[in-house]
Amino acid sequence: MSYVDLHCHLLPGVDDGAATMEDAVAHARRLHAEGVRDVACTSHVKRADFPGVTIEQLGALVVATQREIVAEGLAVRLHPGGELAHPDALELGHDQLDQIALGPENARWLLLECPFEGIDDAFVAAADRLVRFGYGLLLAHPERSAGLLGGDGLERLEPLLRDGALLQVNVCSLLGNHGLDVQDAAVRLVRAGLAGCVASDGHPGTREHTLQLGFHLLLRAGASSGQAYRLTQANPRLLLRNGIVRALPPAEPAGAFDAASMDVSAQRFGSELLARQ
Ligand SMILES: [Fe+2]
Repeated sequence: MSYVDLHCHLLPGVDDGAATMEDAVAHARRLHAEGVRDVACTSHVKRADFPGVTIEQLGALVVATQREIVAEGLAVRLHPGGELAHPDALELGHDQLDQIALGPENARWLLLECPFEGIDDAFVAAADRLVRFGYGLLLAHPERSAGLLGGDGLERLEPLLRDGALLQVNVCSLLGNHGLDVQDAAVRLVRAGLAGCVASDGHPGTREHTLQLGFHLLLRAGASSGQAYRLTQANPRLLLRNGIVRALPPAEPAGAFDAASMDVSAQRFGSELLARQ
């Protein structure tokens, strides 16, 4: 097993993740033991909640944390990134965004947090701005966003998905830590083939599960071992190496998007995901 975790709050002392370097290294020890070999360090860069975080400091902190991990003999590779909140996505400049983008030069992408309050006009405007800058999008924990399936959330995301954006489901959602409705939404996204990858959204000290648990939860949710492998290993590895290629041609003539017929829509998006592997 060689899991690739694209969403983890491992860096110490910057947000609500690891409090200290010791906490970060302790979590890296857990990652190593459970087969997680690559980790994107996606600290919140949400300036309203974490005003002390500056994007400019994150790169050096990744280097310092990696140095400690190597000194401990742990085989965990860190990748600089960040978790972007949509109000900041509307304001940050290209230079700052590029410091938290992942993927190769010609296919850079950003981890954009889906708001808990639901997919609204401001979120769509923020996502569109990032797309105009040329970034692909990995949309974090859509299952935690109110009204994703019961309202028009998924429908509002459809143009982004058509343009190559991918959905990232959280391990803790599959676990049921955010309630039955969120767990149900996470399972439905996976079973419908709409999830592009699963990530831990790990917070050392409070949420310490890894993708190893995510793999087993996927099987319990009804995924095949092949799908669980793709969601926790193959797909996130491809995103790191190859990035997100935008502007896929439409698979069929555009029509009204009906979240109630998600299985049919999922086959379309699912086949696009498979085609990119
Ligand atoms: Fe997060």
